[in-house]
Parts: sequence; structure tokens; C-alpha cells
Amino acid sequence: MGKDSSVLLMALIEDILDLSKMEAGTFSMLMSDFKVDQLVTEVADVFEIQCEHKKLALDVDVDQQLSGLTIQSDFGRLKQILLNLMSNAFKFTFRGSITIRVKKVTENDVPFVLFSVADTGIGIKEEDQNKLFSLFGRAAPEDGLNPHGCGIGLTVSKKYLERLGGRISVESKYGVGTTVRFNIPFKVRILSIISLISLYNRLYYFRVQKLSCFKKVKSTMVSYFV
Ligand SMILES: Nc1ncnc2c1ncn2[C@@H]1O[C@H](COP(=O)(O)OP(=O)(O)OP(=O)(O)O)[C@@H](O)[C@H]1O
Ligand SMILES: [Mg+2]
Repeated sequence: MGKDSSVLLMALIEDILDLSKMEAGTFSMLMSDFKVDQLVTEVADVFEIQCEHKKLALDVDVDQQLSGLTIQSDFGRLKQILLNLMSNAFKFTFRGSITIRVKKVTENDVPFVLFSVADTGIGIKEEDQNKLFSLFGRAAPEDGLNPHGCGIGLTVSKKYLERLGGRISVESKYGVGTTVRFNIPFKVRILSIISLISLYNRLYYFRVQKLSCFKKVKSTMVSYFV
């Protein structure tokens, strides 16, 4: 099994474990500080070679406002969501491109990070679009959606986002392509009290050093002229 396939298999196992933890009430998020670029690159890397083989263009576009910025969220779960959306885009696209975009947006004065995965694949019929987030657990989907999949990807992604304070939506045109968007609250690390104290100490030390240096220069000058 290739490295990329094992990453996707691990992601599926994580999804299933998290779903059962959610049912058991033992699920918790794991917040950390990370760069958006790193998250997107790790996901894109998994699909790079596969897209090449399928002759699909894979584009990544991280808005300048976010590039290089450290944000705070659950890196692992966001990666799971992006892997799910990318797996779908890859599975249902046979020509054209897949594009991952990330940008900062504001809704009612509240900042969010908006992710989207857009493909030029087969698209989803309008009448099927409201079933997408509840396919998991349906043994024989009579509507023909997910005949080979488990229907976990979108369902679990929505559940992750409910816990992260975000939302997910699908816009699709049958025969043209699909764009799945999700947002999360934009949070950057606020300097902790400890780091503020150490910053103050460093500034104070710097001032004391500068003062004593100035005093030394002054006393040297005085002794020179007296
Ligand atoms: N980008 C897409 N293009 C076309 N159809 C899509 C796309 N994303 C999702 N779908 C449709 O929504 C269904 C549900 O997607 P979901 O990811 O929840 O399950 P799955 O891909 O079928 O299985 P799993 O993710 O568990 O392997 C898919 O089977 C497919 O019919
Ligand atoms: Mg899927």
C-alpha cells in the first residue's frame, strides 16, 4: 500500500473512532497553534501524485492575509475534514482541476477562516444535495448516492465543524462541478501572561543595560574633562 493510501485509510479509521467517541460523549477537540499553509500543504501532498496520474490540475491558493500566520484550532480534525473533501473531489473528478482555497472573511463583524475545495467533476443532482450530510448509517442508499462509499466523510466533517464553531455547505451543478466550503472562527494566539512577563523582563533588562552603559560613557567623559 502506498504512503498516500495509508494516510487516507488512517483518516477513515480516525473518522470512525471519532464518530463513536461522539456517540459515547467522550469526544474532545485538541486545540493547537499552527500555520494554515502547513495544514493545506500536508493535505495537498497526499493528492499530488494521484492527481498527476489522473491528469488533474491541483491548485492551492492561500490568501496573503493568512499565509505564514499562526492560527489556533484543531489541526488534526481540520486535516481530517480537508482529506475527506479532497477524497471526494478526487473520486468524482475525471478531467479539469481541483482547487483548495483559504481566505479570511468577516461575517457580521466576526472574522472567520474560509476553506473551499472546488472541483470540475461530475457534480451532484439538485434533488440529492440535501441528503449529503446524513448518508452514514444508510445500508442501501436507494438514491444511488455513494454506492461504494460509506457516507462517512461529509457527515463526520459536519459534526467536527459543529464542535469547532464552524459551518459547512455544498454548492454543486450536475455535470459541471462541486464546491464545498467550510469556515472556522479566526483565532490567533493571544500572548500568555507568562510570555508577557518574560517580554517585560527582557525589555526592563535591556533598559537597565542601556542606562548603565550611558552612565559609564557619561562618567568616562566627565573624568576626561575634569
Ligand atoms: N465533490 C463531489 N462531487 C460529486 N459528488 C460528491 C462530491 N462530494 C460528495 N459527493 C456525493 O456525496 C456523497 C457522500 O459523500 P461522503 O464523503 O459523505 O461519502 P462517500 O464519499 O460516499 O464515502 P466515504 O467518504 O465514507 O468514503 C458521495 O457518495 C457522492 O455521491
Ligand atoms: Mg467521501
